[in-house]
Amino acid sequence: MTVTEAVTTRRSVRQFLDKPVPYEVIHRVMDKARWAPSGCNYQPWQATILTGQPLADLRARIAGQPLGELEYSWDAPAAHEEYKARLGGVSAKMFEALGIARDDTAGRMAAMARNATNFDAPVLLLCYFPRFMLEPQWSDTGMWLQTIALLLREEGLDSCFQEFMAFYAKEIRAFLGLDPESTMFFCGMAIGYRDPDAPVNNFARERVPLEEQVRFLGWD
Ligand SMILES: Cc1cc2nc3c(=O)[nH]c(=O)nc-3n(C[C@H](O)[C@H](O)[C@H](O)COP(=O)(O)O)c2cc1C
Repeated sequence: MTVTEAVTTRRSVRQFLDKPVPYEVIHRVMDKARWAPSGCNYQPWQATILTGQPLADLRARIAGQPLGELEYSWDAPAAHEEYKARLGGVSAKMFEALGIARDDTAGRMAAMARNATNFDAPVLLLCYFPRFMLEPQWSDTGMWLQTIALLLREEGLDSCFQEFMAFYAKEIRAFLGLDPESTMFFCGMAIGYRDPDAPVNNFARERVPLEEQVRFLGWD
């Protein structure tokens, strides 16, 4: 698989096959992902990866818990029409693929709630780092996570990043035995083999035209 193929075939997968992921595969991916770049070579990222009984135990602990208070926010851009529209776009496509009507609030809530069980993925990566890390290190961690996502594609695997899991930061830290004072929980990453036929894995995604994002100077 070329890098281009890995980039273009990666998408957020929200329905997985009931197929276990071998330890050797996950270990190989994580070992390679160590070569992701980071400012000052801090390599600020940390993770715990669960499958089988530990994952079932975590899900049982989270089940029925109310959404907790977020320790970081991702919704500031939605205060601006342009970004609100991008969020609205992906939500509309996803709910349409799931056959959930616009006014079906309960259906939408239920679909969102599937985040809590990581869309039943067989593997869950939980990503965190020391609280003293600032914006550059959050960005470094993003590069590491994308590196993992692309390496997973090379292994025929798929993923979905999950900020939603930050609603359960308290439960997750307690479950993993992480110090709440010093550990910032960032996100989950559902990992497994995609269900290729699931409509939720096949809706058309949108991207902003290149010219709106990038300027090229000096070529003309
Ligand atoms: C850091 C991060 C957190 C995300 N959190 C969630 C989430 O909690 N639940 C979800 O369904 N998708 C989540 N996503 C997936 C985005 O909605 C998705 O990447 C975006 O719509 C682009 O679609 P694509 O990944 O299929 O290309 C997250 C993505 C990123 C990068």
